[in-house]
Amino acid sequence: MKKGRYITTPIYYVNDVPHIGHAYTTVAADVIARYGRMCGYEVFFLTGTDEHGQKVQEAAARQGRPPQAYVDGMVGRFQDLWKALNISNDDFIRTTEARHIRVVQGALDLLYKKGEIYLDSYEGWYCLPDERFWMEKDLKEGKCPDCGRAVEQITESNYFFRMSKYQEWLIEYIKAHPDYIQPSVRRNEVLGFLQKPLGDLCISRPKARLSWGIPLPFDENYVTYVWFDALVNYISIPGYLADMDRFRKWWPADFHLIGKDILTTHSVYWSTMLRALDIEPPKTIFAHGWWTVEGEKMSKSRGNVMNPMDVIREFGVDPFRYFLLREVTFGLDGDFSTDAMVRRINGDLANDIGNLLSRTLSMIEKYYDGIIPAAQGAEASQDTALRKGVDGLSEKVGLFMERLEFNKALSAVWEVITLANRYIDESAPWTLAKDDSKRTRLSAVLYNSAELLRIISLYIYPYMPETAGEMWGQLGIKGDITAAHLQEGCRWSGLKPGLRIKKGKVLFPRIEKIEKTEVRDQELTPPLLKGEKGGLPVSDDTIAIEDFAKIKLRIGKIVTAEGVPGSKKLLKLQVDLGDEKRQVVAGIAAHYRPEELIGKSIVVVANLKPAKLMGIESQGMILAAGTEGTLSLIGPDKDMSPGAVVK
Ligand code: ME8
Repeated sequence: MKKGRYITTPIYYVNDVPHIGHAYTTVAADVIARYGRMCGYEVFFLTGTDEHGQKVQEAAARQGRPPQAYVDGMVGRFQDLWKALNISNDDFIRTTEARHIRVVQGALDLLYKKGEIYLDSYEGWYCLPDERFWMEKDLKEGKCPDCGRAVEQITESNYFFRMSKYQEWLIEYIKAHPDYIQPSVRRNEVLGFLQKPLGDLCISRPKARLSWGIPLPFDENYVTYVWFDALVNYISIPGYLADMDRFRKWWPADFHLIGKDILTTHSVYWSTMLRALDIEPPKTIFAHGWWTVEGEKMSKSRGNVMNPMDVIREFGVDPFRYFLLREVTFGLDGDFSTDAMVRRINGDLANDIGNLLSRTLSMIEKYYDGIIPAAQGAEASQDTALRKGVDGLSEKVGLFMERLEFNKALSAVWEVITLANRYIDESAPWTLAKDDSKRTRLSAVLYNSAELLRIISLYIYPYMPETAGEMWGQLGIKGDITAAHLQEGCRWSGLKPGLRIKKGKVLFPRIEKIEKTEVRDQELTPPLLKGEKGGLPVSDDTIAIEDFAKIKLRIGKIVTAEGVPGSKKLLKLQVDLGDEKRQVVAGIAAHYRPEELIGKSIVVVANLKPAKLMGIESQGMILAAGTEGTLSLIGPDKDMSPGAVVK
């Protein structure tokens, strides 16, 4: 067993309704945890709930319940969701647990004794009806910013943590550790924030105003500020102060995953708190982007808060997990829409991987009575290409996973799935089966396809554990995929010939919804084509909507453009597709000079089989409209990020 890996999510406010944003961070952490275990690491994956503070106290009061009873009644919504999402957390922290409270008080005590915490009094404004204290800068036209009522001036004393003392250290630390705050845009944001003088942090609330919190160990008139309490969860649960051997085993955490909304509390408050406690900072704080729903910010008032349980019921757990990590680059913002979800399910899942499993197993059933044949005969060039694709995968995926580039890791796996589907198309087992002299070749093609599926199941396991297990079952593999080791498991020829397959349910049934609406649009499109029948076009060049759905179009931005030696027509372009760069060779040299193309947004056919033009590989095609003598590149009419899906 390799050294431990410690991964955390934020602890979510227990009074929040869990939504896809919470699910996102937790699924991402789960993927890291499952991948880590598969790579032989001992993993500690922690999530939980943040249960103290003003908002919880107010919510409990509204329901007329004591706060503890209120939080006890709320926490199940998160725990149930994590069960439904197959989250493999090793512990679940609730900040109202004694094991956490003891450590918060212990840490406060240490800091107080070291002189890192001091009492200070200051003036501010109090809103009596709201029972809330505001600083001068918070007021709106001299009134309470929340309710707009008059406020009265009061003098209050509170305890402060000497955060300002660590400002220079923090700047230097962030500069010296480029991986500390990721992605780099967030690191720069924090460094920007740190250019202004850092104040000290108020870490207490007078009990008279807020009683629902952890009492300060050195002054019973105060409770701990909710962020000071919550952040300590990352050290209290692995054993800080309580079991230092255990703590040293896990700390420093490998990844604190957070959303960009809580970047400052983690990078500034938490880093300086740890420094004051003489504890090493975590290795990486990664702040991911923000999800909107159908283009809009999620909010209770808009009524568009997307409940993950509903998504699971409608689309299934694994498609949801897959979508979250495949759809957007981890770190950037994303939009959740039913259309995008359906496209991923019908394309990547049903068409690509689902189809690969079902066609392979159907042929093993038909030609070998359901027994996986041994690969006989010499390796053909197609077999070698397939093997090469698989052999390169481990390193690529490993690198992407280290950098939390989940969508790139999945893209790399999907390239191999596409390769395998092509392998079957080109080897045409159905033709081989008609000729007895080709039996040897047939057995090799079917063995290789099944073996590739076994290996693919290991790579998709962290993302879609249920599906990966289902694939093992259908391939007839004994044992539990959760215990599989990636490196050993990925060795070619691991699949035993002679296993009896168990062709089962379709992995991902196609979802008809999107087709239905598009057919309706088609019906409305006048004029009908020649040869129409019953109002529907039946011309020979019509294609089914599923065929169109196979073409993946994305927005790309041209980064470089240059001529192709020896060609008057071709230009070689490097195109940014958001999560990857593509080289595209396009026949547009007669109409565009290379330099006028730089920075242009264009539409790229992203899933075209690579081809060589004048010996140069073209990984896709760009769209243009042409009449005789003119050509115009097709692009979005608004600013669009590279990688955006053309729908
Ligand atoms: O901030 N898109 O808890 P919280 C992506 N208790 N992620 C989102 C999201 C969205 N629209 N909405 C929420 C707290 N998240 C504190 C944390 S940690 C010591 C204390 C995710 O319930 C994202 O991870 O408001 C964000 O950081 C977190 O939920 C905030 O959860």
